[in-house]
Amino acid sequence: PKPRLVVIGSMNMDIVVETKQVPEKGETVLGQKVSFVPGGKGANQAVACARLGAETSIIGAVGDDAFGSQLLNSLEENDVDISGVKKVGGTSSGAASIYLSEGDNRIVVIPGANERLTPDDIDENEDKLVCCDVVLLQLEIPIETVVYAAKKAKSYGKTVLLNPAPAQPLPDEIFSNIDIFTPNETELISYTGLDKGKDSLEVGMKELRMKGVNHIVTTLGEKGSAYLNESDQVEYESGYQVTVVDTTGAGDAFNGALGFAIGEGKKIREALEYASLVSAIAVTKFGAQGGMPTEAEIQAFALEGNKLKDT
Ligand code: RIB
Ligand code: NA
Repeated sequence: PKPRLVVIGSMNMDIVVETKQVPEKGETVLGQKVSFVPGGKGANQAVACARLGAETSIIGAVGDDAFGSQLLNSLEENDVDISGVKKVGGTSSGAASIYLSEGDNRIVVIPGANERLTPDDIDENEDKLVCCDVVLLQLEIPIETVVYAAKKAKSYGKTVLLNPAPAQPLPDEIFSNIDIFTPNETELISYTGLDKGKDSLEVGMKELRMKGVNHIVTTLGEKGSAYLNESDQVEYESGYQVTVVDTTGAGDAFNGALGFAIGEGKKIREALEYASLVSAIAVTKFGAQGGMPTEAEIQAFALEGNKLKDT
């Protein structure tokens, strides 16, 4: 059966500026191209899940502007159920200003309507939580809503995955309602007392486990990911050697695929292997959602004999 995923999160219009040179303070440079493409960590993760074949719905908010309609259309085209998205009058949709330079990015997010998603909206979409397998959360909506949603999903016995990005202070009470927590290295440092110069990742990951999270995964970009196993030891999952076009949304591809695989009933290590593969493919194409692969594209990628990266 198809896994059923609910994503509770943001939708942004990504304004992507491609430039060879990133401006310094007070400097003006000429770039090469500007594109408007759908993004937002919530929407990106939803599209990742839907392309992989999950029955996916999103709970979120857009403004009553042109971007809002475009974001909704694009989700629908990707077979994401948008009946849980509210339109907020007099507010602009979320937007992200992205400088893309040599495959790497710098992003400023303006939350807009995403900031208006409340615990009441979660209650109104309770039916979606009741009939799903996995709930995916990120931090581009109010923390209060994230905390509430995690608690509610947990009360229904659902698997809750929190991708704690972008890093923000979290109340300790949330951790006991999170099954899978997926910071990147910088986020891990911000959520723990980990001292990068001195400690290994294990120190921070163990601290999170003590707060009540069972599965802790630190994403390591092109190097793959690190996982704290049952014996409190770190195991590494390799990344892939690919030609990078755009790393925007790589984390979202990873989290969407991880949630999907867990929803399919895979064990965590196998799910991480799958998530690595999916996010490696995602960065070979332009746009946060542009490279989210289908099952057929994953097969093709494997046949091309793509190699694992040595870590
Ligand atoms: O994770 C990538 C996303 O972060 C972009 O699509 C942008 O909208 C920001 O939310
Ligand atoms: Na991409």
